[in-house]
Amino acid sequence: MPEKKSQMEAIYRHMWASHEGGPFAPLDESLHPRPHSMLYEVVSTCGVSSSSLVLDIGSGRGNHSCALAQRFGCAVVGLDVAQFHVEQGRARAVQEGVSDRVSFVQGDIEALPFEDERFDFLWSRDMLMHVLALPQALAECARVLKPAGAMLAYTTVATGRMEPKEAAWLYASFGLVLESMEEGVVEAAFQAAGLQMHSKEQLGSELMEWVEEHEGRASRELMRLARMLRKPEYYQELLGTRRYEVALANYPWALYILLGKLSPTLYVLQKNASS
Ligand SMILES: C[S@@+](CC[C@H](N)C(=O)[O-])C[C@H]1O[C@@H](n2cnc3c(N)ncnc32)[C@H](O)[C@@H]1O
Repeated sequence: MPEKKSQMEAIYRHMWASHEGGPFAPLDESLHPRPHSMLYEVVSTCGVSSSSLVLDIGSGRGNHSCALAQRFGCAVVGLDVAQFHVEQGRARAVQEGVSDRVSFVQGDIEALPFEDERFDFLWSRDMLMHVLALPQALAECARVLKPAGAMLAYTTVATGRMEPKEAAWLYASFGLVLESMEEGVVEAAFQAAGLQMHSKEQLGSELMEWVEEHEGRASRELMRLARMLRKPEYYQELLGTRRYEVALANYPWALYILLGKLSPTLYVLQKNASS
């Protein structure tokens, strides 16, 4: 078996060494990734100021709505489909002393409860993947944006490394929409809505590398996942089935980003003047 001999030699000559330093040592050094706060730096290039009215779509716990108001002095409306998020956002705005400028409403991106051309800037972070009808949702975004207004869309798309079976499980568990995680579908929906792609940056694992390097999130969640998978009954009893299932779906997220199966992507869009 001469082929087997040369195959094993070719693999193991480098395999043992790959656990050590030597030529592999640079892999332990940071590539100096940017943190998630780079998104705010992008906002500052979009002309957001103290006179701007900003819509935070899918505002979640309200942290970004408050941070935008604090950084730019602007007024912000946070919109989220989940009522408990709206309440969390309101409580945070009071706690952070910005409730005079930051308000929250319950609503769906597919039918925004605002009049045409109300907002100067739209911020949509980590939510387009949940949207069922992306063309309808983005048409709504374009409708409520002032002429020539800008939108920051930070969303995650699946890459060719994502296997269909793992995608099907992850998306079903986490309420993600397969088509809305396809780069081509997302970009076609921007175009159809009259939102011109001003810039696009494939961030890939960069921001998650920062989180791992500074907070150890991915390695902690990997170990949590390993323990949950090894002793499912124990953790289901401890956490309750629903909490267990949500955590089981949530923890692979950071790992899939680091493995290159999911790729966070940052778009700056501009409403066509004629739309
Ligand atoms: C991953 S969280 C992101 C929250 C926040 N933007 C952030 O970056 O921390 C996704 C959010 O989108 C909201 N969401 C999902 N579908 C929505 C829809 N159709 N319209 C409005 N909000 C939606 C969820 O309730 C959740 O708060």
